[in-house]
Amino acid sequence: MSEKAVSTAGMITVRPIQFGSDEHALEVELRTKVLRTPLGLTFSEEELARESSDFHFGAFCPELIGCLILTPKTRSILKMRQVAVDFASQGLGAGKLLVAFSEVFARGEGFTEMELSARMNAVPFYLGLGYVASGEDFMEVGIPHRKLTKRI
Ligand SMILES: CC(C)(COP(=O)(O)OP(=O)(O)OC[C@H]1O[C@@H](n2cnc3c(N)ncnc32)[C@H](O)[C@@H]1OP(=O)(O)O)[C@@H](O)C(=O)NCCC(=O)NCCS
Repeated sequence: MSEKAVSTAGMITVRPIQFGSDEHALEVELRTKVLRTPLGLTFSEEELARESSDFHFGAFCPELIGCLILTPKTRSILKMRQVAVDFASQGLGAGKLLVAFSEVFARGEGFTEMELSARMNAVPFYLGLGYVASGEDFMEVGIPHRKLTKRI
């Protein structure tokens, strides 16, 4: 697969982020700002250390504006986590590009299914990208979530 993906407008680029790099520090900062601070939460060192063998991706324009993480659950299933686009850059296509890039990457690595726990506000975003909701709502980080999956 290509090492990166570029939006149709050519302004947003998606590429891997190396764990422990300066860009990774910016990724954690962005995730904290978009996903944790609004809930009054932070990340612990232990939580972040557990992500060392996950796949991290960033959307750049040209600075980091979005990110997500892929965690292998089995040899065929990847869990998409920590999808976050900076508040000022939402609605520009970065989230869609990150998800599309992840699916191409996952297929290339031999995975056949993507799954995720979506916050309720983001469920329509994933439904629009072909994800299917299943099961009852459940609580994570103190707010309701819904399980979504997609054959890739
Ligand atoms: C949800 C989020 C990742 C979407 O990323 P984004 O870059 O803003 O979305 P995009 O610009 O790529 O939008 C792609 C499409 O989804 C739609 N969309 C985006 N967010 C949506 C939402 N919350 N509800 C419904 N539709 C949405 C867009 O209108 C667009 O539709 P189009 O292709 O028909 O034009 C982002 O808004 C975000 O980080 N939100 C806050 C954190 C969060 O909830 N993360 C998800 C945790 S599960």
